[in-house]
Amino acid sequence: MPDSAQHDAQTIHVLLEEGRAFKPSAAFTAQANAADKDIYERAEKDPEGFWASFAEELDWHKKWDKVLEWESPDAKWFVGGKINACYNCVDRHVQNGKRNKAALIWEGEPGEKRTLTYWDVYREVNKFANALKGLGIKKGDRVAIYLPMVPELIISVLACARIGAVHSVVFAGFSPEALAERINDAEAKLLITADGGFRRGMIIPLKHDADFALINTPSIESVVIVKRGDFPLRVKEGRDHWYHRLMQEADNYCEPEWMDSEDMLYILYTSGTTGKPKGIVHTTGGYLVGTYATSKLVFDLKPEDVFWCTADVGWVTGHSYLVYGPMANGATQVIYEGAPDWPDRDRFWQIVENNGVTVFYTAPTAIRAFMRWGEDEPDRHDLSTLRLLGSVGEPINPEAWMWYHKHIGGEKCPIVDTWWQTETGAIMITPLPGLTTTKPGSATRPFPGIKAEIRTDSGEVVEQGGGYLALTRPWPSMLRGIYGDPERFRDTYWTKWKDGAYFTGDGAKRDADGYFWVLGRVDDVINIAGHRLSTMEVESAFVDHPDVVETAVVGVADEIKGQAIAAFVTLREGVEMDDRLEERLKEHVVRKIGAIARPRQILFSAELPKTRSGKIMRRLLRDIASGRVPGDTSTLADPTVVEKLKRRYEED
Ligand code: WT7
Repeated sequence: MPDSAQHDAQTIHVLLEEGRAFKPSAAFTAQANAADKDIYERAEKDPEGFWASFAEELDWHKKWDKVLEWESPDAKWFVGGKINACYNCVDRHVQNGKRNKAALIWEGEPGEKRTLTYWDVYREVNKFANALKGLGIKKGDRVAIYLPMVPELIISVLACARIGAVHSVVFAGFSPEALAERINDAEAKLLITADGGFRRGMIIPLKHDADFALINTPSIESVVIVKRGDFPLRVKEGRDHWYHRLMQEADNYCEPEWMDSEDMLYILYTSGTTGKPKGIVHTTGGYLVGTYATSKLVFDLKPEDVFWCTADVGWVTGHSYLVYGPMANGATQVIYEGAPDWPDRDRFWQIVENNGVTVFYTAPTAIRAFMRWGEDEPDRHDLSTLRLLGSVGEPINPEAWMWYHKHIGGEKCPIVDTWWQTETGAIMITPLPGLTTTKPGSATRPFPGIKAEIRTDSGEVVEQGGGYLALTRPWPSMLRGIYGDPERFRDTYWTKWKDGAYFTGDGAKRDADGYFWVLGRVDDVINIAGHRLSTMEVESAFVDHPDVVETAVVGVADEIKGQAIAAFVTLREGVEMDDRLEERLKEHVVRKIGAIARPRQILFSAELPKTRSGKIMRRLLRDIASGRVPGDTSTLADPTVVEKLKRRYEED
């Protein structure tokens, strides 16, 4: 089990004894979208009927014939239905009285502000959809998007959905190499990027970076560049087009492409246990139903709310709870481009105050950073508009939960700790804010209609205690595959147990009240600041450096980020050690993957602990890197290696 999981397991033990619990206020319950406890029972009796009732609230071009066809691992939801995701997020609001409602309230990091109404979004999306068509993009084509958090990112996503093109958003913090790998895997025809973006006052020259990727991406025919600032770049005649120029020439209206419910909506890459990222595939109808329903019930969205999900659209949280879920609900949202500590550490609270944010959704890593910066930062602002708080991305430690509750929520806001994954598409385990008594650190119970279990290796259900987290019934927003790799799809998620249940890769516990406590990954995936990286991916980046012959990477507990990377590196013979080598290797990994993959520490060692068959014992390395007494070393080819490493580590 990962180190953070062990740490949290201890905390949880203490907490369970202490038994802190928070019941929703009667006032919150009275106004909540989910106010009736029967909802769980109703959904349990007829899950398909439950999901269909939300599908009814969307606009279908043609209604489905059948709610579900399921044979593990293949699911079809709302079979025979025709629908367009963009139409449901934009057109229907323009037609139904929300034409002039603010859809997106955007703040750039340097401080500029733009508000787009649903009408504005409608106009922009239609025009950009036509521009994409003009560049030869058709239904089913893949479009890569590498943009900072600007409104054009959301417009690009929706424009793709409008014409049935499959979007593949690549987080702008990823390196050009990571971008190229994703473009090539999806064989994207077009790339949408920007001249640059801002981060902590610095300019990130995205187009300039993307040009490095574009050297090795034969499938790309055109590039669209959004002008964010005045950043220098090279425009390749015939291939590169300015967004604003295309928009000047584009027609105002583009008929939405009526997609089959099971047509692909997007691909989003996430790390698995191997070096190669997985292109998680989501389809249209079920995904929209799942994100719509969870946004409505978990975030309790009302027409007058101002919702702020701080995630970047480069991650699944941004896809589901910035673009599709809230917009299908016709919500008003805040989007912020930059860092929480720019220009000062109260930037978030300034944004909450200025925009009267009511529902706020962020990650534990951010909450822990706020904690460290001190309560004076939020205390200087009027946060009284907030009525509901959310958390996502990793287990939230109870201390951070309590701080969030007290200093951000003013002890009056329910907190929804939402567990889900890129693969699940929508929130799976979560409180319903008007119904669920919360316990700090627990994601509580499965969302209505979702069935989760704790299982042993052999598949026995653990009613109370720890084990693997499994989802044992299909759900509408479930992944439909790994792009181009059905075998990996099956092997990764569906073959752990005989009955074909979904294996999440997480360990969890269930307490006496049936509450779930997610502990963290049980595989070789590290969760850094709520983002997944595979140890293999980082190891490949290391050994790509000419000075490195072998490496093993492990996740270690980190006070702010949850986990951080510790690397054990064996250098090629004859390489001179110098003071800068460690920094050079770190830079190399950042260049290969992106800044999120920067290792925290590197320990150089001539040998790594290996079994007789040559397998590196990462468990022992985790022990060493976490300062624990290394476990069983009897299977090692050379048990003295561990002692030596441990001594070296303590000296380091
Ligand atoms: C992994 C999924 C889902 C959006 C962000 C991350 C961990 C996520 C929680 C939570 C405990 C959580 C799990 C999961 N995780 N939310 N509330 N409590 N752990 O998406 O990159 O696909 O990562 O994040 O380990 O498997 P992702």
